[in-house]
Amino acid sequence: MRSLFLWLARNQWLKSRLPRLWFMRRAVRRFMPGETMDDALQAAEPLQAAGIGTLYTRLGENLTTLDEAEEVARHYETLVDRIVDAGLDGEVSVKPTQLGLDLDPERTLSHLQRLAEKAAATGSYLWIDMEGSDYVEATVAIYERLRADHPRTGICLQAYLKRTPSDVERLRPLDPAIRLVKGAYDEPATIAYRDKRQVDASYLSIAVDFLKTGRGRPVRLGLGTHDVALVEQIAEQVSPAGIAKDGFEVEMLYGIRSREQYRLAKAGYRVQTLIAYGEHWYPWYMRRLAERPANVAFAIRSLLP
Ligand code: FDA
Repeated sequence: MRSLFLWLARNQWLKSRLPRLWFMRRAVRRFMPGETMDDALQAAEPLQAAGIGTLYTRLGENLTTLDEAEEVARHYETLVDRIVDAGLDGEVSVKPTQLGLDLDPERTLSHLQRLAEKAAATGSYLWIDMEGSDYVEATVAIYERLRADHPRTGICLQAYLKRTPSDVERLRPLDPAIRLVKGAYDEPATIAYRDKRQVDASYLSIAVDFLKTGRGRPVRLGLGTHDVALVEQIAEQVSPAGIAKDGFEVEMLYGIRSREQYRLAKAGYRVQTLIAYGEHWYPWYMRRLAERPANVAFAIRSLLP
């Protein structure tokens, strides 16, 4: 099932047709408040009232022209201003291929630098998402260069990749901010764990190790997962080292385990909700369906009046 949906996510023919279908548009609303920046900012209000911060990403990946990347960068600059104007505790998260990584990595870096400066000037942060394994080396390398001059930046790393512990070590001298996720793409067993238990074990060990070996300095780690049991296990394992529930962040996607997001915030965890929006939601939505077969049943129910 997972492989089927990840194949659907990559299929260009379906990508250009399925999003036009009304029932697809209705189904995606479960995970996405709407297609516009306004929809995303409005969705943040009740979260903020409950002490939950927000992360924003405009969906879209693998652009074909540098002009498009320029437009995306400008969009994110406006978004940073709008977050401030709305008084929201929000941060922006971007995909490198959405800023032209396939076309011109130097230009991508300069977009990231511009956005990082803008975010830092408003007291915010810029996050870099992690895409499929073909992009991991380039993304880590670009983050190394970005972080050297822009401390208020972070990178997403994927626990299913066997290389991730060494990427953490490689970045450690830069005092990186890391969002740890399990990983959403279809990667071969040569480079990634495919068994859930192995992925969970890798996640636990990377998170605990990163938090405990911050060398006395506070580190920024976002646990990008809906796996509440795993979050609680991490909290339990780092507590003897004096790291409290608010010594890291718990980050979940909008519309997924919402009740748990509110419960964790009430219980003293620092919670952030990632709100995705935009017109180019098809591959992203297919990856959400791949994560949980029950979501497919939900999508089918959307066919009903
Ligand atoms: P897991 O799949 O084990 O699920 C744990 C439990 O959470 C499930 O039992 C279920 O109850 C619930 N759950 C999980 N997914 C669900 C869904 N789609 N619908 C409903 N319930 C669900 N990936 C990546 O490769 N690059 C990236 O940059 C990011 N960025 C990112 C940011 C943030 C804030 C989050 C939360 C996730 C990502 N991801 C990501 C996605 C990530 O890699 C992973 O695919 C998903 O988070 C699903 O895995 P879980 O960690 O939730 O665990």
